[in-house]
Amino acid sequence: LSILVLHGPNLNLLGQREPGIYGSLTLAEINRLLEAAALNLQAKVFPLQSNHEGVLVDTIHGALDKHQGILINAGAYTHTSLALRDAIASVNLPTVEVHLSNIYRREEFRHHSYIAPVVIGQISGFGSQSYLLGLQALVHYLRKDEV
Ligand code: DQA
Repeated sequence: LSILVLHGPNLNLLGQREPGIYGSLTLAEINRLLEAAALNLQAKVFPLQSNHEGVLVDTIHGALDKHQGILINAGAYTHTSLALRDAIASVNLPTVEVHLSNIYRREEFRHHSYIAPVVIGQISGFGSQSYLLGLQALVHYLRKDEV
């Protein structure tokens, strides 16, 4: 199984960006954890980070031929981007939404996700574990072990 892992805006700064909220691991460290976890699940992850909405949209379009599922932390685009939501709906690849922080216990403007209605499910609030839990859930879903 091939899984596209998309990291949205500002996640390139993980480790130094508001560590009290987002933790101290860097994005490279999170990607390494995901690669190791994927290996255990007999899957492979292909991580990409972009600060540009259009690049994320293009990458989602390109995923159709290459990947079986998408794990996405859309960052602030979660709360603003109809284009990302429509891209996910268009390719119709099983997608899991993750957030390091619990977006529902933060500012009101983070409580709404445009992505949520087009994903299988969402994991929010477990720091880097959110990604690992999300990967596990997505792989299990794709293998129809459970829904
Ligand atoms: C985030 C939460 C978003 O509200 C924020 O804009 C981010 C990161 C998270 O992982 O907790 O950039 O998606």
